[in-house]
Amino acid sequence: MGKFGCLLLFGMEILILLLAVAPPPGVEAWGKEGHYSTCKIAEPLLSKEASEAVRKLLPKYAEGDLASLCSWPDQMRFRFHWASPLHYINTPDNQCGYDYERDCHDEHGVKGVCLEGAIKNYTSQLETYGSRATGGKYNLTQALLFLSHFMGDVHEPLHVGFTSDEGGNTIQLHWYKRKCNLHHVWDSFIIEKAMKEYYDNDLEVMIEAIQKNISDSWSDEVTTWEKCNGRELACPGSYADESIILACKWAYKDAKENSVLEDDYFLSRLPILEKQLARGGVRLAATLNRIFSSKEGYTRESEL
Ligand code: ADE
Ligand code: ZN
Ligand code: ZN
Repeated sequence: MGKFGCLLLFGMEILILLLAVAPPPGVEAWGKEGHYSTCKIAEPLLSKEASEAVRKLLPKYAEGDLASLCSWPDQMRFRFHWASPLHYINTPDNQCGYDYERDCHDEHGVKGVCLEGAIKNYTSQLETYGSRATGGKYNLTQALLFLSHFMGDVHEPLHVGFTSDEGGNTIQLHWYKRKCNLHHVWDSFIIEKAMKEYYDNDLEVMIEAIQKNISDSWSDEVTTWEKCNGRELACPGSYADESIILACKWAYKDAKENSVLEDDYFLSRLPILEKQLARGGVRLAATLNRIFSSKEGYTRESEL
């Protein structure tokens, strides 16, 4: 979600000023902490080939750190207007399931223009890495950043949300004493509060705790997270289905217009959110590993 999703009411002037610079609705994403975490979790899980390809594709100033650029598509949202509908999927209200044919389209009904379509598209662009025939046709630096970003978004339960409330964006409620919308709670506030309460206000400490769970208590599940049907390189349809199910069971539950969300909500939802960050990281690494397995990669200056 953007930085303007929630407003502390200081005074009318500030409110008007903030509204004036707020982004248009419908372009909200995991906050930068969510994207950073997903990509940071993926980094050490990359194969040698995938790490090398990622390093070659990243701009030099990223110094090989994919996580530092995983929020780049959000920073570009004014320039890349066409990409707005790629950050989410809207499903019919209260159906709690996702169907590509029914749900993956933009607001004009153009098919494939949604989060699942975007992940598939950038995955197949990246598949051309190292091929002389198709090399140069796409900007693979951008493809890598979009894929890494969208793999985070598809694990934010409310990025696969109900159509009428735009994934919780139009549900106004209170997060403790703050007035905000439900979508922003999941994009940013749960992570921010967790950092403050348990992780010394340090995102790296929170990420380390999630990584420890991946190698200890969740280790049995990790192989199933990584798996994709058949020979697919990425399985965003299953991730989207998982997200809308979690959105129904946890995000929307007990969060209506004017609800006050406090400790009960925070404490029961945090484990869900942390696991989604873990799944996103593990699956991003698995996808990049499949894409770049046995690819040489021709050398070309990376560019954004
Ligand atoms: N805009 C409309 N629906 C949305 C969703 N589910 N997530 C983020 N932004 C949206
Ligand atoms: Zn996004
Ligand atoms: Zn969002």
